Amino acid sequence: MLRAWDTNFQPDFASGKAIYLQIGELIAGEIRRGRLLPGTALPGTRELAKQLGVNRKTAVLAYEELLAQGWLESQHTRGTFVSSRLPESTPAAFAPAAAGQAEQPGFRWQNLLEPDLAAPVLPGALVFNDGTPDARLAPIPPLASAYRRVLQGRGRRNQLGYDSPLGSLPLREALSRMLNQDRGLSTTPAGICLTRGTQMALYLTARLLIQPGDVVAVENPGYPPAWQTFRLLGAQLAPVAVDAEGLCVDELEQLCRRRPVRALYLTPHHQFPTTVTLKAARRVQLLALAARYGVAIIEDDYDHEFHYQHQPMLPLASADTHGVVLYIGSLSKLIAPALRVGYVTGPLEFVTALGRLRALVDRQGDTILEQAVAELIEEGEIKRHARRAHAAYHARRDALADGLRRLPGNQLDFVLPAGGLALWVEFRADVNVERLAEELRLRKVVITPGSRYYVGEPAANAVRLGYAALTPEELAHGVAQLGAVLRQLRS
Ligand SMILES: Cc1ncc(COP(=O)(O)O)c(C=O)c1O
Repeated sequence: MLRAWDTNFQPDFASGKAIYLQIGELIAGEIRRGRLLPGTALPGTRELAKQLGVNRKTAVLAYEELLAQGWLESQHTRGTFVSSRLPESTPAAFAPAAAGQAEQPGFRWQNLLEPDLAAPVLPGALVFNDGTPDARLAPIPPLASAYRRVLQGRGRRNQLGYDSPLGSLPLREALSRMLNQDRGLSTTPAGICLTRGTQMALYLTARLLIQPGDVVAVENPGYPPAWQTFRLLGAQLAPVAVDAEGLCVDELEQLCRRRPVRALYLTPHHQFPTTVTLKAARRVQLLALAARYGVAIIEDDYDHEFHYQHQPMLPLASADTHGVVLYIGSLSKLIAPALRVGYVTGPLEFVTALGRLRALVDRQGDTILEQAVAELIEEGEIKRHARRAHAAYHARRDALADGLRRLPGNQLDFVLPAGGLALWVEFRADVNVERLAEELRLRKVVITPGSRYYVGEPAANAVRLGYAALTPEELAHGVAQLGAVLRQLRS
């Protein structure tokens, strides 16, 4: 039977893959396809080597590998055979392997994920994203050298093994100090669970909170990646309107009176996407309401550092005396989204459970990166970067606002946000924002219509324009293109 190979098997000496492994795969493939049946005798290694034009040692290695994997068995003096313990394949099972990866699974499953509605990437385009920072400003050299120091065991503390699922202690200590000193929280390192960014924090938190059928209140408009997580876990979303003072807490109260509400997802500092800051009176009202109805408030403080008008408002978590707030933050806006370092803090029992859940998903984070970031925080490098980025983003906010205000035609309006990395720009009712986005795309400028941030019918004809990742020159180009398309739509 093996004689058939004389003609059709040529080891590929250029492939970089060891020849003995190629021979092993070939024989295993023949067995799988039923061309070599259990109990079939194989040629001796000398003969096999001759047939295939390889060194005899290579043939020996190939057989040894197949013997170890259980494809073959050796009968001491009689030679080598296809293992008699393999289930027999029929010749009908012989079919050429499908080219490439299977499209459809050959098993039953239910795809619970919502379709990805993101527009395709447009290479070389100028993108007004939804408010990400400028990774070009990130403190890469200090981060790289801190990472190298930790990796090489030259860091102040060296931990390359398994670590606490809550995350590396030095970073939890540094974050705890930062949250207590700068944001008015009262945390301890044991009460912080590190995650790979906000999104993982949201998933873990929601996984512990939500049972199928639970009601989760969300801001409308709001942040769809959070909604998708809640829905995936079986939640029913209850949209609550947002006005110029932030979430309409009266509306939430009416909802709580009607049905039990498990959780509220909230971006109170710079509401996503409208940028509005939740006013003090509503904060007081909201905390009392959450305590009364036992609603968990998931506070996503995603761009806390960037506030331009006055001292940033302290998070809701700083005034939580009832243990109702789960506070989430990340370094995605402060440094760069690729860093994947986030955290959750809240009632200790809940945070401990988060750590245990996290261990099931991911065991632990990138503890080397976590230690490196802790060193940068301790050295003051992160604060220095925050100051530089703050100044740049403040100037960019003003540059975009000035450019937009100068556009003729009165087709748009916005309230200058007190902070954050984006503007929420509302267009006159006669401007078709979908069309605007399409026309801009032809000019290699990308904007995302605000309708995608609504549950149901959009209440505003708006676009969230992230400015932080674009230089003043890029912003000027983007605004010029926007002006040109608006003129075109007018005429
Ligand atoms: C509302 C909101 N939360 C959180 C994030 C950051 O997510 P992550 O920390 O997972 O990068 C973003 C980023 O766009 C955001 O807009």
